[in-house]
Amino acid sequence: MASFKRTLITSALPYANGYIHLGHVAGAYLPADIYTRFLRATGQEVIHISGSDEHGVAIMITAEEEGITPQQVVDKYHTANSIAFFGLGIAFDMYGRTTWQEHHATAQDFFLALHQQGYLVEKDEEQFYDPEAAMFLPDRYVEGTCPVCGAEGARGDQCDNCSSTYNQTELKNPVSKLTGKTPEKRTTRHFYFSLGKFQQRLEQYVERHSHDWRDHVLQQSRSWLKQGLGDRAITRDLPWGIDVPLPGYEGKKLYVWFDAPFGYITNTKVLMNKRGDAEGGQRWWQSPDTRYVAFIGKDNIWFHTLMFPAMLMGWNDQQRGQYVLPDNVPACNFLNLEGNKFSKSRKWGIDLQDYLAEFPPDPLRYTIASSLPENKDADFTWREYQAKTNNELADILGNFVNRTLQFTARYFDGAVPPLAADSAKEADLLALLNEDLRRISNDGRGDQEAIEELATKYLNYFTHNDAVMLVALARAPHRIAQLYSNFRFRDAALETMNVARAANKYFNDSEPWKTRKDNPARTATSLNICLQVVRSLAVLFRPIIPFTSDSMFALLKLPPTETAWYSAGTLTLATGAPIAEPVILFNKVEDSVVEEQVAKLGGGGAAAAEAEKEPIHVELKPEVTIDDVMKLDLRVATVLAAERVKKSEKLLKLQIRIGDLERQILAGIGKVYQPEELVGKKIVVVANLKPATLMGQQSQGMLLAANSPDGLPTIVTVLNPDDVDDGFIVR
Ligand code: 2FM
Ligand code: ZN
Repeated sequence: MASFKRTLITSALPYANGYIHLGHVAGAYLPADIYTRFLRATGQEVIHISGSDEHGVAIMITAEEEGITPQQVVDKYHTANSIAFFGLGIAFDMYGRTTWQEHHATAQDFFLALHQQGYLVEKDEEQFYDPEAAMFLPDRYVEGTCPVCGAEGARGDQCDNCSSTYNQTELKNPVSKLTGKTPEKRTTRHFYFSLGKFQQRLEQYVERHSHDWRDHVLQQSRSWLKQGLGDRAITRDLPWGIDVPLPGYEGKKLYVWFDAPFGYITNTKVLMNKRGDAEGGQRWWQSPDTRYVAFIGKDNIWFHTLMFPAMLMGWNDQQRGQYVLPDNVPACNFLNLEGNKFSKSRKWGIDLQDYLAEFPPDPLRYTIASSLPENKDADFTWREYQAKTNNELADILGNFVNRTLQFTARYFDGAVPPLAADSAKEADLLALLNEDLRRISNDGRGDQEAIEELATKYLNYFTHNDAVMLVALARAPHRIAQLYSNFRFRDAALETMNVARAANKYFNDSEPWKTRKDNPARTATSLNICLQVVRSLAVLFRPIIPFTSDSMFALLKLPPTETAWYSAGTLTLATGAPIAEPVILFNKVEDSVVEEQVAKLGGGGAAAAEAEKEPIHVELKPEVTIDDVMKLDLRVATVLAAERVKKSEKLLKLQIRIGDLERQILAGIGKVYQPEELVGKKIVVVANLKPATLMGQQSQGMLLAANSPDGLPTIVTVLNPDDVDDGFIVR
């Protein structure tokens, strides 16, 4: 990786015409916040920029619906959303607004630069015009059938079903949303951005990231490039937005997607001005040693991997400084809710502000973080929220912290007990131990080896059980950092909880309630270690649950430390340091709460939202006969073992049992599944497929999986696995 000095993080600017809901939180804002906090904890210089997207037709439509002006709409939602983000602990360094004058200036400046470089062309083109409403119809005022996938209800500029973007006149069966009539085509003059001129440079840019971008981001970008990039209209006949800064265009505005991404730049400049750092805007955006990471939801990929980079490249051609392009665009997939898509019209959703009015932020942060839709869509359910809160946050993390503090308060006068029985040796022991913990933190050896080393070396001080805990602690910061660095936030959250799990087990196995009577020195050592682990957990959990981390530091009577990541692998609490009385960190979620929340959704329940789903357009293959079908030997198989195929991100090697046969099959499911989660599962395979060799490995059969339109598999499993044995025929 190239060396860089600072990381610039942006999160998509949400439209200020609606409330932020949990889908938005999972798509971009929570992962971006977690990443920012993580980088900051490791001592890196980082800023997180976002803000409201306040132009465009969506705002105008809301103004009409709510009977207020567009300005009132954006004022209302900008305020509400800023408060909600704050309540969830999404700590933007700047949450700006595209209606700011500074932003109008930035966008117009880019427009003029691109115009001067010859990247903007004027064209008279046909647009839909509604004669009854006497106006040209902006994209969202017209709806029709998607020209690419055939889905109904596609908008004028983008299809929600297949994410394709197109020019509105390509829509089939267009209908004006203003009057319900079929619009006519009339000619109007607009500026077009010659995106096609950047085709090659964009291809090179995307391919430079073939190893570090998420697969679905790469695939989507490649597939658009393959279709070929053409001119894109970037002005509109609209009353609301940023003026086109050229004569002859009075009354026309910049297209919202042309201006919005520059909001990242404006908002950074405003932040820097506020900090009194006049060079800041340039340093953050135009230095080769800035690394830029753009967090977005998956419906924004095109704009961030192609359109925005091209606009920056066009500006850069002036040779007046070079804007950095996104180094990564870690888009998330969609978060569904209780099995269905978020839908405003069906009232199928949970707005962040409504959640926060009833519940604390951290259980939501943890629940979403530990099931982020990184590689495939995920589902938020209140049952899952309850399970994560009760069984993990409360029963593992909360329980460990609580028991440790209780014990310290009761038996050690609320102070950190000594690590070593011989107090004269305490300081030396701690120094030596920390040196060893640092050395083993990332030395590539197996855990077992490190445990044996510590257990042997410190035989006079520590038990084997202590050594197990110390090694888990020493290695956690690097292990988790590795996951964050690879944008695997979900696994990072799970791995962090594993440290708490190990701690809880350590407390149990140490049995301080027993040793207290016959071996008080031993009890002191294990409680000292437990308290050290509480501090480490406060550090390691900080990116995910910052409010709880604050409470944990308060329990230890320490100020929260922002840059202490790697110290979490060592012991830093001094013997005798005062500790507070325990408080309950997490309240359990009752069944009645789950039921109440689920009942609130949708009015009509899950079935209503199901009806809302757009059906997928299906084109069948040529007909087959029953004889053709019978040629396939489909069987239930049990997965006995699974591992990754070396050098392949996609392939997993499975050992399976089909009755009395054992087979090896290779399956292209590694992007979505971890080998561990498959062992013991019952799957369905084509058992009589001719064997083949893939990447030097034998594959004797094929597993059945349902593939999403973007090619991500979900394995077909049997509904009641206990009722079937492997070997059963499937028909
Ligand atoms: O999809 C959206 O909500 C857009 N308002 C995102 C804009 S991101 C950016 F480029 F500003
Ligand atoms: Zn479509």
